[in-house]
Amino acid sequence: MAGAFQYRLRADRRPISVEGYRLAAQRALPHMIWNYVEGSADDNVTAGENTGAFQRWRLRQRVLTGHARVALGTTVAGVPLSMPVALAPTGLSGLTNWRGDVACLRAAESQGTRLVLSTASSYTLEETAAAGQEHHWFQLYPFGDKPFVSGLLARARNAGYTALFVTVDVPVRGNREGERTSGMTVPPTLTPASVLDAALHPAWWFNLLRHRRLAAANYVSSGLRGAGAAVQSVQAQARFMQADLNWDDLAWMREHWQGPIYVKGLLDPDDAERAIDQVGMDGIVVSNHGGRQLDGALATLDALPAIAERVGNRCEVLLDGGVRRGSDVVKALCLGARGVFIGRPYLYGLAAGGEAGVREVLGILRAEIERTLILMGCPGVQALDRGWLLPAHPPSTHG
Ligand SMILES: Cc1cc2nc3c(=O)[nH]c(=O)nc-3n(C[C@H](O)[C@H](O)[C@H](O)COP(=O)(O)O)c2cc1C
Repeated sequence: MAGAFQYRLRADRRPISVEGYRLAAQRALPHMIWNYVEGSADDNVTAGENTGAFQRWRLRQRVLTGHARVALGTTVAGVPLSMPVALAPTGLSGLTNWRGDVACLRAAESQGTRLVLSTASSYTLEETAAAGQEHHWFQLYPFGDKPFVSGLLARARNAGYTALFVTVDVPVRGNREGERTSGMTVPPTLTPASVLDAALHPAWWFNLLRHRRLAAANYVSSGLRGAGAAVQSVQAQARFMQADLNWDDLAWMREHWQGPIYVKGLLDPDDAERAIDQVGMDGIVVSNHGGRQLDGALATLDALPAIAERVGNRCEVLLDGGVRRGSDVVKALCLGARGVFIGRPYLYGLAAGGEAGVREVLGILRAEIERTLILMGCPGVQALDRGWLLPAHPPSTHG
């Protein structure tokens, strides 16, 4: 990436795990942006459970199986992926690093996977698509304003987006107290503390002022940039969002999108069944928005088995929330997911190392999945099922 003030990581200091990238991202970002990325709702219970749920399972280890090469490939929304991990939609990623969505889309494609572009992206859906190759994926907030949504869907189709992910767990915004107390408003609340905070991160500040990627670009009239655009995008989002959205609205989205369409943000098997059998959705992303919405909701890994059991034989079931290791991906696949999405982990990579950082986070997860499968004695991700897992508590024995 061009530019005098890029975050460059010396090769010998490069993190070697998602956790390492998390710590590097925290150092690279002003406090309020860090709070935006890392924060979750209320008391962070669900966010903590998302990661904790993976520790309640143990992997079965078979030896002497001779699987030196393991197969990681899968297909989601008709697109072959080199591994069962893709990038979840995250709004305003340009606040984390000015190259935002463009860097993430390029990194994903270079690793043989995909980004789901957020409705609230920092680059327009056209700008982002132009930076990549083909078969892009778009996330839609199901706003009540149907002419506005129709316009977004037409733009997405024309720009080469082939799959749609409709996020249904934000009828209102969750209570993210970390953001509210650290000045993470749009535009940011400038207090002596937040100005000092930004000054301590000159590279980030320089790029913010230079590139002014402050807004949700898809909502902004063309040509407007910087704080004015940010205010306009927030006003637009508030105007379009409706708490009384219902199943008819989801059916409307289904009717108006010709192509694979997924519902993102379900935790309940009854909802999953209705989305598939009555609305005709092609798949489910079991998600609680990374614990940023209803605090106290189920961890996604805990919600997954019942949903996979109910609808997994007739649609694609995917999961996000709390995936931090390759072994987490393996556990989700054992419990019925076809693939997983990561949110914060790639934002850590983006904050610490731009496009290269996102690529490396994906590379770390790929290597971890591969190593995990070889150590389990499993030939590949398609062979994973519930039989490869043992509950951690009470401590399991095989009989
Ligand atoms: C900073 C941030 C912004 C997000 N923005 C969106 C968004 O615009 N649309 C959406 O559907 N989900 C959004 N999410 C939720 C993610 O798509 C995903 O569900 C969540 O991050 C998964 O949990 P993880 O961060 O533990 O991987 C966002 C998450 C984060 C951390």
